[in-house]
Amino acid sequence: MKVANLLVAFALLALASSFVTAYDPSPLQDFCVGINDADAAVLVNGKLCKNPSFATIEDFTYSGFDVRGNTSNQLRAHVNLITADLMPGLNTLGVSLARIDFEPNGGLNPPHYHPRGSEVLLVLEGTLYAGFVTSNPDHRLFAKILKAGDFIAFPFGLVHFQMNVGKTPAVAIAALTSQNPGVNTVANAIFGAHWPINPEVLTTAFHLDKNIVEDLQTQNWVNPS
Ligand SMILES: *[C@@H]1O[C@H](CO)[C@@H](O)[C@H](O)[C@H]1NC(C)=O
Repeated sequence: MKVANLLVAFALLALASSFVTAYDPSPLQDFCVGINDADAAVLVNGKLCKNPSFATIEDFTYSGFDVRGNTSNQLRAHVNLITADLMPGLNTLGVSLARIDFEPNGGLNPPHYHPRGSEVLLVLEGTLYAGFVTSNPDHRLFAKILKAGDFIAFPFGLVHFQMNVGKTPAVAIAALTSQNPGVNTVANAIFGAHWPINPEVLTTAFHLDKNIVEDLQTQNWVNPS
């Protein structure tokens, strides 16, 4: 190959890789503390920036992760995810943090995925069975029982879960690679869609009787929060 051809190939490759970046973009400045201004005439991918000279340490700090979440719900777990909506200083920084509480003997953060982030989850207290499943066609399960001090990575966009398999409460802290990773709880999206998905779709897709599908669709699919 001639040098010129190589250069063209290299330039095309460089361009292509800049178009497929699947993560929050570089912030381009030290910070851009988010503000909510409904009257602003412009929309940005993220939030508008507060004038940096008005930024304070309060924009970059958050309190309350010492407090247990209220786990009185069907899943017997509670997720407290702090995104840029709740902590304006996270805007453009590409990170967010969650505290997750689990009741003993089965408290569950049900199968879900984050459409905009990878995750690492650290067990602070208790014992969690945690894992993720790879995408089509293999659907390989990677799962393990984790104890305090262990952490696990959940790759970008893959379905994952954690369940307390111990006899004591469990607590985990999760960091995600987006200021707004999003959460899609699989069962809730499928069976709790508004309006309901035509049962015939789910009957065939899930190999279930139509009456089971219709029963599932009438249930209350509360998101873990
Ligand atoms: C926890 O949540 C339940 C159900 O929403 C509610 O009835 C209860 O008052 C809450 N407990 C506390 C301590 O906030």
